[in-house]
Amino acid sequence: MPNARPVRKAVLPVAGLGTRFLPATKVVPKEMLPVVDKPVVQYAVEEAKEAGIEQFVFVTGRGKHIISDHFDHAYELESQLAARDKTAELRSLLEMLPQTGSVGFVRQQQPLGLGHAVWCARHFIGDEPFAVLLPDDLMVGKPSGLAQMVEAYHRVGGGCIVAAEERPREETRRYGVVNPGATKGNATEVRALVEKPKPADAPSTLCIIGRYILQPEIFNELDRQERGAGNEIQLTDAMARVIGRMPFHAVQTTCARYDCGDKVGFLHANIAVGLQRPDIAPALRDVLRLLKD
Ligand code: UTP
Repeated sequence: MPNARPVRKAVLPVAGLGTRFLPATKVVPKEMLPVVDKPVVQYAVEEAKEAGIEQFVFVTGRGKHIISDHFDHAYELESQLAARDKTAELRSLLEMLPQTGSVGFVRQQQPLGLGHAVWCARHFIGDEPFAVLLPDDLMVGKPSGLAQMVEAYHRVGGGCIVAAEERPREETRRYGVVNPGATKGNATEVRALVEKPKPADAPSTLCIIGRYILQPEIFNELDRQERGAGNEIQLTDAMARVIGRMPFHAVQTTCARYDCGDKVGFLHANIAVGLQRPDIAPALRDVLRLLKD
């Protein structure tokens, strides 16, 4: 089996309107809402770095400039922290900065769907395999969600990988759904994909979540700009068309996944991540006990 090409670049689509979180997202992008004390988008960048990603492109829209500020120096703040000997805080800010020149931003201009958002990054990606991370889906676990996918990618000989998880059948209309073939370890062959099927029409309950490893051939499919479910340009439709031309697998990672684009999922993430943090877990447990009574 020839070696699969390494995955060095990642696309983070953050151009969605975040209507489910209004009015919080009127000014603040939903990707900047914090889970405990870190914006959702920063978790995705850290996950990608752990998986060996070296270059990032954010697909942004109007009002998203604070995401680029977040991944840049904040000179006044940094000098104030230094002057006040707040070294731990300063270190945490400096450690999270990506390498100079390794982050790019492209504007989606019109929110025409996830497939369109990924297509907007085509010149940055060029002719290389790449990852896509939807920051809304927070993945918690070790190795990171994307790191487990990259490991599977090399094991199965490259091609495309989607992260997937089993969901209750009544939820299939919210996801891209896999028509599964054989399973080996954590990787299931993908025979076909259907975007947001009715529960009765779904080929399985194995649903795609917001992590992908894709080959640049996907851009040829996205070039067609065909509209799918919801009249949006769907990434799932483009992926479905490359099945059969290259290996295509769905990987079930050992990570927990929280849908931070949904109010209850977001609160769940805050509690679950808070309970893993030694500095706040005991006090948080007390609060939860109080609420239960
Ligand atoms: P969602 O389906 O969650 O849509 O997008 P949304 O607009 O962000 O949020 P709601 O439903 O109005 O609350 C899933 C992912 O795809 C990106 C979003 O930023 C999010 O990461 N996306 C979606 C784009 O970048 N562009 C689009 O045109 C659509």
